[in-house]
Parts: sequence; C-alpha cells; structure tokens
Amino acid sequence: MSALTPVRAFRKTLLGLAVAGTLGAAQAHAGEVEVLHWWTSGGEARAANVLKQLMEDEGHQWEDFAVAGGGGETAMTVLKSRAMSGNPPSAAQIKGPEIQEWGELGLLGSLDDVAQSEGWDDMLPDVVADVMKHDGNYVAVPVNVHRVNWLWANPKILEEAGVELPTTLDEMFAAGEAIREAGYIPLAHGGQPWQDATVFESVLLASAGTDFYRRAMVDLDPDALGGEEMIQALETFKRTRELMDDDMSGRDWNIATSMVISDKAAMQLMGDWAKGEFTAAGLTPGEDYLCAPAPGTQDAFTFNIDSLAMFQVSDDSEREAQKTLARLVLEPEFQEAFNLAKGSIPARPDLDMSEFDTCAQQSLEAFQQTAEEGGLVPSMAHGMAVRSDVQGAMFDVITNFFNSPDMDAEQAAQRMVNAAQAAL
Ligand code: BGC
Repeated sequence: MSALTPVRAFRKTLLGLAVAGTLGAAQAHAGEVEVLHWWTSGGEARAANVLKQLMEDEGHQWEDFAVAGGGGETAMTVLKSRAMSGNPPSAAQIKGPEIQEWGELGLLGSLDDVAQSEGWDDMLPDVVADVMKHDGNYVAVPVNVHRVNWLWANPKILEEAGVELPTTLDEMFAAGEAIREAGYIPLAHGGQPWQDATVFESVLLASAGTDFYRRAMVDLDPDALGGEEMIQALETFKRTRELMDDDMSGRDWNIATSMVISDKAAMQLMGDWAKGEFTAAGLTPGEDYLCAPAPGTQDAFTFNIDSLAMFQVSDDSEREAQKTLARLVLEPEFQEAFNLAKGSIPARPDLDMSEFDTCAQQSLEAFQQTAEEGGLVPSMAHGMAVRSDVQGAMFDVITNFFNSPDMDAEQAAQRMVNAAQAAL
C-alpha cells in the first residue's frame, strides 16, 4: 500500500508529467490569456471585470475560467485536473505557500523581466513580495491585500437590540442574546469548511493572541496545537454556533452577507471581500453597515493576499499577454478600480487612497501598524500560513469538531496535532 497522502500522490503524478514534457503545449490563440479564478459573487465579479476590460483595452483576449466556490477549494481541484491533463490555463489565482508547490513542480513561468522593468522589488512590501517568489524569482503577481479578521454589522439591528458593536468575544456573546431576543439572527454564517475555519482563526486570535496563533497555525508546534490555550479557543469557537441559525449548512458566504444587508442577521465574521457585496449593493460604511476588527483582534491583522501565478507557455503571443497581465495588475489604475470593488486594499502601499472608504483606510493603517509592531499574521483559512495538505487536514478537524456533538475540544486539539504531524 502506498504511504503517500492523496496530495503528495498528486504532486508525484504531476511531476512525472512535467518531466515527461507533456505539459505546456500551446493551446491558446494569439494574445489570449485564460485566467482561472473563483471571483463569482456580485462584488467579486465586478472586480474581476476590471482586469478583463483592461486586458481587452490592450488588445488581448481574456478567456474567463471562473470556478464558483468561496475560498477557492473547488477552483484548485479543477486547476489540478487541468494541469494533470497537460493543459493548465495561462494564469491562475494561486496564493501563499501553494505558489511554492506549483513552483516546485517546475510549471510556473518567471515574471522577473516584468518585475524588473516595473520595479516590483522597490514597490512591494517584503511580506507581499516574498510570497510571490519561488527560488528568488517572481512567478506570481499580487492583486491585493485582504484582511480576514473583520466583523460586519447591521447598525439598525444593533440599535433595535440596544447593543453596541462588540469589541471582545464576551461582548459578542452578550450582544448575541439581545439580538436574538429582538428577533434577529446574531451571526450570519455559511456552514462550509473554509468559512468555519475563517471564524475559527479569528476566535483563536482573540482568545490566545498573535504569538500563540503563529506558533500553532504557522509553526505547527504540537505543544501549542494540543495545549490548553487551543482547547479553550476551540470551546469558544464552538459556542459561536449559539449565534448562528439552523439553516447555515452549505450556505455560500455571500448569501450570509446578504442576510446582514437585508436586515435578517446582525453580524458576520468574514474577510473584507464581504465589503465588495455591501459596495455592490450601493451601501455606505458607517451609515448602512459597520466594519470593525473581529472582536478581540484589534491588534492583529490576518492577511490574505490574492495573486495570479502564470504557467509556462510556449506560444510567444500568449507569453506577451501574460506579461501584459502581470504589468497591468500592479498599475495604479487597476489597483484602485479592482480593490474598490473587491473590498481589499492595494498590494502596493504608494497609492493615493483618497477614493477608498473608511474601512479600507482602517485596514491600511492596521496593516502598516501590525507590520511594524507585530501582529501581522498569515491566514490559515485562506491558504497563507501552511501548505495545502496541512490546510486541508486542519479544515477537516475544525469542521468536524464544529459540527459534531460528540467530539470534545481535547479530542479536536489532539487531532490537530496528528493532522499537522501526518502532513509534515
Ligand atoms: C479569496 C478572495 C475571495 C474569497 C471568497 C478568498 O480566499 O482570497 O479573493 O473573495 O476567498 O471567495
């Protein structure tokens, strides 16, 4: 019996294909880029359209390869099967350590020439640039910086329930009771593994702090994963179910956001792509909806950087189109228009932010402050902290624990230790 995990087995098969030279056959027409992404909600699609438009304005063809499914798990499965069949798209939304996985397979093309002529090294913060490089070469271009640890709220419901925006987990649970009594759902949520993990990591940060978060979610330290602080965080995480509704199972994240928009639910714990939905609905922060750091995480910034990685192609015009795409992504025009629609902040910090709303201004300030003072941590739920096999194993534990009445927090913590060990 093979001792390989499915993910490792996949890597091995791909490596075989790459070595056998079956990848990289030019499939596209001249000047065409096929771009795989999972930006399919209202706000996300508006944002993706900015790039499509800019590419078309430059005379290139954009072949949209959108794969629905928040968090991108489905998109990554589809990408793997396309790569396995020797026909990857020219560009794909790949993030964090997963960029290294594709780089190790030798499938990504270098963007160093564009990076050099555009001065990316000087333009990008190190924390962003590092993620985009494999073996010291740029293989991906950053699109934005999302903050994951946000709370979104409906001010009318909070007022009717007589509560303020919670700043601690205790306040959140107390507010939840009052909101429930006023006849609303306290916390909009979609029961999908990546959404459970999104809530979990914010609760973990609030409950155990950023140093602990790093030890557990980035370093995978077994003492942290299996320790008392983790057990407590898991217990608190499970309590957030009290704030959710019975129909959450399988619900998409943007449907959960729409419950806050349509006065059904008071709050949502979600990254700032949720703001893209409020924006698409024509709403104004501070008036129609509120944004605040997830309760208890004021000193932290969980970052999630979207990026587009380019696959090696042999067709010259396709290569040209890839280079244009990479250049456009970091130009001010794209950075502003895309991020205004997407809810994120620009990947380069030197841009005029006057068009951005208060939530984005707050996000930029928090990013800079946490980068200087500590507190800037990669999101595990959004593929920035650990490689995809570890992330998958963590998702399983978190979701099973969240949904199982029989598993206690000690067992879940132990399973996290095992999951991390098995994947290492
Ligand atoms: C991505 C975002 C996307 C969100 C919901 C995150 O992992 O980084 O760009 O909007 O998932 O699909």
